[in-house]
Amino acid sequence: MHVVHIAVEMAPVAKVGGLGDIVTSLSRAVQDLNHNVNIVFPKYDCLKFEHVTDFHYQRCYSWGGTEIEVWFGKVEGLSVYFLDPQNGFFSTGCVYGCGNDAQRFGFFCHAALEFLHQSGFHPDIIHCHDWSSAPVAWLLKDHYMHYDGLSKSRVVFTIHNLEFGAHFIAKAMVYADKATTVSHTYSKEVAGNPAIAPHLHKFHGILNGIDLDIWDPFNDKFIPVSYNSENVIEGKQAAKKALQQRLGLKNSDLPLVGIISRLTHQKGIHLIKHAISRTLELNGQVVLLGSAPDPRIQNDFVNLANQLHSSHADRARLCLNYDEPLSHLIYAGSDFILVPSIFEPCGLTQLTAMRYGSIPVVRKTGGLYDTVFDVDNDKARAEAQGLESNGFNFDGADGSGVDYALNRAITAWYGARDWFNSLCKTVMEQDWSWNRPALEYIELYHATKKY
Ligand code: ADP
Ligand code: GLC
Repeated sequence: MHVVHIAVEMAPVAKVGGLGDIVTSLSRAVQDLNHNVNIVFPKYDCLKFEHVTDFHYQRCYSWGGTEIEVWFGKVEGLSVYFLDPQNGFFSTGCVYGCGNDAQRFGFFCHAALEFLHQSGFHPDIIHCHDWSSAPVAWLLKDHYMHYDGLSKSRVVFTIHNLEFGAHFIAKAMVYADKATTVSHTYSKEVAGNPAIAPHLHKFHGILNGIDLDIWDPFNDKFIPVSYNSENVIEGKQAAKKALQQRLGLKNSDLPLVGIISRLTHQKGIHLIKHAISRTLELNGQVVLLGSAPDPRIQNDFVNLANQLHSSHADRARLCLNYDEPLSHLIYAGSDFILVPSIFEPCGLTQLTAMRYGSIPVVRKTGGLYDTVFDVDNDKARAEAQGLESNGFNFDGADGSGVDYALNRAITAWYGARDWFNSLCKTVMEQDWSWNRPALEYIELYHATKKY
């Protein structure tokens, strides 16, 4: 089968959040199952070119009165066609936030289809993502159904977050042959949304996976000691020490809570703040890595960081930027990773946490509900999935929920170390990769062809 993704984020060359991770990791997983996968992507001037190999100019074509250069390169083993329209749309220094994003990405979607058409591609599936490549769904049907190459192509549209671009998403839901979202519970949570409700017959929840090669504590240049589930305790101790040293925290064996997050309403900002104080009250350490697109929220966290620097310099550190290498060290060096999201379509941080033997502490919503099973309350629910319980979770959206989960987590760390250590081993051995979800996508792609 030939699958072409048209997307505007892709790890590690232009990642803003989980969407970027998924475009790369899903493509790799499907390619590894012997399907032909290509990606059509904007050639941003802010691309991290050091992650592109075999990069070369291919040709030029014209569309919409604009010359578009086509560049080819390999990213994580994937063949990527980079489009560079000569109208400055992607010479902006950023992926989003340029004021005319809808126009830039609308143009890109049409240019991408035109590229496929002019290049004689005959993909079975064109897979587009979120509002930013949603226009592919209707542009294909409106403009390319009468051409040989693309007339048999079918569109799969994946919603990673219904919060953004509601208008685009609603229209793509009408035109897409199949639509998915990134966990089963989120698919149920949004089923009543007016954009989704009329199309439930073609809407499916498929859980995201993580790329085990990119997130692998046995082979991770950003952590000091390689580890797997056999030496998880030694590996994590070394990583904790390195993390404490790097951030200037007290070098002692305290329970360490890590938070790696965009700082937006979705991620439960008030709960994050509450959890920071509660962890300090419980004599733990806390490290936050995150940044806020909204300057007011960013400022608020800068103030909090300064306060904590004077009151708890040895036990709290807020790093208010985007730092991929540091994120690896935090996943490895933390005992717990906290994800108190108000809503979470899937969430990758809790899955990555488990891959590094860190215990997730999460709010019960969306994909967090589907992947984290409370050690005290969810044994039966975990068993029904063939799993052991693997973390701590809470309901509600106020501090008492966070307290309920964190108190139990940190008390277990202090009082039941052997049990806690065996939990670290258990979570590391659980499979949150693409092994199963990639097969579900392939089944969906096959079903879409017959649609
Ligand atoms: P979302 O896409 O809603 O932000 P996900 O949990 O799906 O949430 O994915 C977030 C991804 O971004 C994860 O891979 C996480 O490690 C990464 N991430 C978030 N904030 C940062 C940051 N400040 N520095 C480095 N990586 C980050
Ligand atoms: C979105 C969602 C997140 C999901 C990611 C990848 O950004 O907020 O929950 O994991 O997309 O699908």
